[in-house]
Amino acid sequence: MSVLAIDAGTTGVTAVVVTPDGRIEATGYQEFRQHFPHPGWVEHSAEEIWQATIEATREVLTKVDQSELTAIGITNQRETIVLWDRETLGSPRRAIVWQDRRTADICERLRADGHEDRVTELTGLRLDPYFSGTKLMWLAEQEPHTWALVESGRYAVGTVDSYLIARMTRGTWHVTDVSNACRTLLFDLEAGDWSEELCGLFGVPRDALPDLVPNWGEVAPSDPKVFLGLELPIAGIAGDQQSALFGQTCFDEGESKCTYGTGSFILTNTGGEVVRSDAGLLSTAAWRSPGGEMTYALEGAIFVTGSAVQWLRDGLQIVGSAAETAAIAATVDDSDGVVFVPALTGLGAPHWDPHARGTILGITRGTTRAHLVRATLEGIAFEVRDVLETLPELTTLRVDGGAAANDFLCQLQADQVDRAVERPEIVETTALGAAFLAGLGTGVWDSTDDLRETWALERRFEPAGDRDALDASYARWRDAVERSKGWAG
Ligand code: G3P
Repeated sequence: MSVLAIDAGTTGVTAVVVTPDGRIEATGYQEFRQHFPHPGWVEHSAEEIWQATIEATREVLTKVDQSELTAIGITNQRETIVLWDRETLGSPRRAIVWQDRRTADICERLRADGHEDRVTELTGLRLDPYFSGTKLMWLAEQEPHTWALVESGRYAVGTVDSYLIARMTRGTWHVTDVSNACRTLLFDLEAGDWSEELCGLFGVPRDALPDLVPNWGEVAPSDPKVFLGLELPIAGIAGDQQSALFGQTCFDEGESKCTYGTGSFILTNTGGEVVRSDAGLLSTAAWRSPGGEMTYALEGAIFVTGSAVQWLRDGLQIVGSAAETAAIAATVDDSDGVVFVPALTGLGAPHWDPHARGTILGITRGTTRAHLVRATLEGIAFEVRDVLETLPELTTLRVDGGAAANDFLCQLQADQVDRAVERPEIVETTALGAAFLAGLGTGVWDSTDDLRETWALERRFEPAGDRDALDASYARWRDAVERSKGWAG
């Protein structure tokens, strides 16, 4: 008995097989292209996401005994919106990605028209281009021919999970879960359902949206004709950050995690209550049980952390791999006064400025690549500190995601936030969470207590360093953040 989990992230798809003892037995991975048609715009080809899903799954299947597989769990980059033809499953246009800033003006218009308070009250979110609602509004305004086919019912609208489920079931199922739905600006958080009022405000026909299913429990079988011969129940779905919260076994109120992926996302379980923040955090759904019980979370969403390292590698080409940044950064004692605010797609929590842009301050003739690499890792740690400053009651930070493997970053993080940082043995927690959900939904695990037993600490990083010096460097960071704001007009 093992579970196949698919993590369709922002830059690639990971497929893992998880055994009943909570171990990752095998992994497959396939990157897909990023499209940047204009400054600040980010798009993905839905077809390429699907092909990457097939390839990552094909790879993992070569490494395991397929007859042992009992269920499929799916987790995904959230907020990204996909349109597809219900008959052909082809997409009429590329997906608009969560990082895309093209709707900053629409957000401002809605704000000027006085809608923000009501939108926040209903959704727990804010008017920011990050979320799907204004992306759909942009499509309706800018691509009316495409939108007409959404209105006529020919095109379905969904997040990446719902698109993949449609592909796996040859268009039979159009579903999502609350953790994805609640990021669209169309979902009433307290009611736990799509909101007619918000669909009206954003001009999205309710019928174009997926139906809601619980986060665990059998939904539908994959169709072996289109999905590598696999006929397995899809039995777990969650947006990637909520999935990581589940994978870190943060089942109780107050338990928190920080995932370092393309961006970094700090989530704190708030139990059955919607807790609201006046310090720039989002209120969000964590998951809903098959019995209908909602669990909520507070979230600090930071848009660019790992993708800043990716930019060093692919954009500037000053590092060969993300992994080598730790060693390069350690060759210098400090960043020599260089501060990098990686607001490459604007700023999320707690600042929320879609017009902010990446800013590097303090460069001199003596600045080397090592200083810039170090400033990038420091920038990530500072961004996370910005969020943790709003969560004083959090005493320990559980970390996961690709960059959590970076010892240098983990120590820097512990020093900056002045709290212990705990790294579990498995840092691919996003995929693990989807496997846990699907396994819980099919009896591989009987309860969350069983899952909790699988969590194991690998290393704990205690805060160290000179507090005054750390605080002084953080003060300079805050100054640099202010300077990065408003740049894109
Ligand atoms: O909200 C965006 C988030 O879901 C993307 O996560 O892991 O691709 O950085 P990731």
